[in-house]
Amino acid sequence: MSTYTEDLRAVTTQRLIEMKQRGEKIAMLTAYDYSMASIIDKAGMDVILVGDSASNVMAGNSTTLPVTLDQMIWYTQAVRKAVKRALVVADLPFGSYQGNSKEAVHSAIRMMKETGCDAIKIEGGLEIKDSVQRILSAGIPIMGHLGLTPQSINKFGTYAVRARETEEAQKLLDDAQLLDELGCFGIVLEKIPADLAKRVTETVHIPTIGIGAGPHTDGQVLVMHDMLGINTEFSPRFLRRYANLHDEIKNSVAHYIKDIKNHDFPNEKESY
Ligand code: KIV
Repeated sequence: MSTYTEDLRAVTTQRLIEMKQRGEKIAMLTAYDYSMASIIDKAGMDVILVGDSASNVMAGNSTTLPVTLDQMIWYTQAVRKAVKRALVVADLPFGSYQGNSKEAVHSAIRMMKETGCDAIKIEGGLEIKDSVQRILSAGIPIMGHLGLTPQSINKFGTYAVRARETEEAQKLLDDAQLLDELGCFGIVLEKIPADLAKRVTETVHIPTIGIGAGPHTDGQVLVMHDMLGINTEFSPRFLRRYANLHDEIKNSVAHYIKDIKNHDFPNEKESY
């Protein structure tokens, strides 16, 4: 299959809003390193997210909480160097913006200055309003994140679908409108009912990007390791696997080991 490269111009936050207006779906995927980011960008991805899911898939933690700002900066620097067209969005990690808007703007400035990313993503609505305002007033574009917000997993106690009940659904809708009014350029909606994601998408002017939020959002995002079948332990209903790289890599590595053991590698042609 060829790559989807209809428009070779660099993706900007403004262009994402225009995509929503003309009904063009937005494709977003995570990346954490130079080599994978380069392939994903060449394939025509609109947005590459350096997600704090790096904590899980890159560092083997069971939650996103342990990853630090320094570590997120390291991953983002590598991705930034590879990406020519996609918009690069970096997650601010847990503890770098909640509850202290001064620290929030400091973290966001560090992320932008030290990595050259295009925007940052933070989780929450009304409770992080001051941080959102302060970061935006520093000229830093923000993507919001509502619904299942993994940095609050200890508050939720479960990774189950959020906002099924009226009260939580109304709060999510209010938070989405708030983020829109404050000037965020997009919102990730994670693991919420499809009908609610549709309502949010129809209400706000900025693009919504869903993960486990049904087909009506303006775009979709997945974690690269899940989507490529590198990580096989995580199989939620919303995940579509496009490859089985776990087996592909394992078989290739086993083949390499066999060739070494059998004195087959390297051969004459592969030697100097
Ligand atoms: O960190 C991440 O990968 C994310 C996506 C799940 C949206 O926030």
